[in-house]
Amino acid sequence: MTDTAALIAAARAAALKAHAPYSRFAVGAALLLSDGSVMTGANVENASYGLSLCAETVAVASASAAGRLADIVAVAVIGGLMDTHGVPTGAHVVSPCGRCRQVLNEAAQMGGRDLIVHCGAAEGDAVVTYRLSELLPDAFGPADLGIVQRS
Ligand code: THU
Repeated sequence: MTDTAALIAAARAAALKAHAPYSRFAVGAALLLSDGSVMTGANVENASYGLSLCAETVAVASASAAGRLADIVAVAVIGGLMDTHGVPTGAHVVSPCGRCRQVLNEAAQMGGRDLIVHCGAAEGDAVVTYRLSELLPDAFGPADLGIVQRS
């Protein structure tokens, strides 16, 4: 299995833990860290709909809580409408929402890296790979506040 396929597989496994009873759209995100370890997250919806958390944000928060915010190298994301067993379905490639791109940029700038973003689907082999700088060009981030050097 390639590194990309392994990260997509981790994102698919993470999506099975989504709490998404309102949209029934389960999303999983898997972060590859600089030491080769992987951290994951799934979306956590809320009865007050606007409070819902995206999978990528949950994964980044988890990495940050573990002291690993600056160690993120790549992310894979998948998502799809859940079947009756809560398993995401479909071959539609999902990419991070705008807010998640900004959240990922915090990790990217803190680590001095342009993150690799693998966008995959719940089912099938389709993967589209971007750099975060393509998905969020001219990003505002910690460098603008003098926290890190602009790379
Ligand atoms: N969602 C994510 O988890 N990540 C994204 O990048 C896009 C959307 C979630 C939020 C909500 O729980 C569900 O997908 C439907 O929008």
